[in-house]
Amino acid sequence: MKTIPDFYKRKAAGEPITMVTCYDAATAKILNETSVDSILVGDSCAMVVHGFDSTIHATVEMMEAHTAAVRRGAPNKVIIGDMPFLSYRGGIEASTNAVAKLMRAGANALKVERCRGNIELITRLVEGGVPVMGHLGMTPQSVNEFGGFKIQARNGDAAQALLDEALELEESGCFSIVLECIPSEVAERVTDALGIPTIGIGSGPETSGQVLVLNDLLGLDSDFQPPFARRYMDADQMINRAVEGYCEDVRDRGYPGDGEYKP
Ligand code: KIV
Repeated sequence: MKTIPDFYKRKAAGEPITMVTCYDAATAKILNETSVDSILVGDSCAMVVHGFDSTIHATVEMMEAHTAAVRRGAPNKVIIGDMPFLSYRGGIEASTNAVAKLMRAGANALKVERCRGNIELITRLVEGGVPVMGHLGMTPQSVNEFGGFKIQARNGDAAQALLDEALELEESGCFSIVLECIPSEVAERVTDALGIPTIGIGSGPETSGQVLVLNDLLGLDSDFQPPFARRYMDADQMINRAVEGYCEDVRDRGYPGDGEYKP
């Protein structure tokens, strides 16, 4: 996948879209050499990189710096930047300033959480040439309203409301919608009702694609393992072993060895 319009082609062809989060240039350089379709510079960076307890702490400046770093590392990937908490709620002018910063930092598209109150901005952005990805369900910026990180759209009315919002986002020009932590059958219903692709996280297998936080996929934090996030390695243990190996070698005067101290 090379461009945003490829998202539509993938859905039409029934080929799943792959997406992971990334926040820094070194990791982006590795991802640039993989077949992953797209990279989300998620506001989850406030949690997994900066150590906050929610994404509410992400700022435009933070997202701008991470987006620019990821673009430098992954020049060939489709990059979606996350609009941080309240950055798109301060009126059209303030919002478009934030949008311009993230697009100039290297994003190909931007993601905004929720539908209500965002339609005018989304329409303006799309008309202005900014591809917009929607995000419904367990939208982490609303964690205080939800009373925690909880599955959303569990009953019929809530599922119908989510479907209506998804249709409204499509109508306003979104090229894709993330569906986070909603029942699989609701995600399937929404996916079937839309022409644009859905990207699921914790929402079952029937969406048009999947996104995972890279740190969860790599197992960088064994204290945090959401049930839906499959761990493909235990990076925390591997890093621990590597650093302990280095410390042992230094203490034993085994490092540096022959050939490791000449420039
Ligand atoms: O910020 C993020 O990482 C996200 C994904 C979990 C979809 O929004």
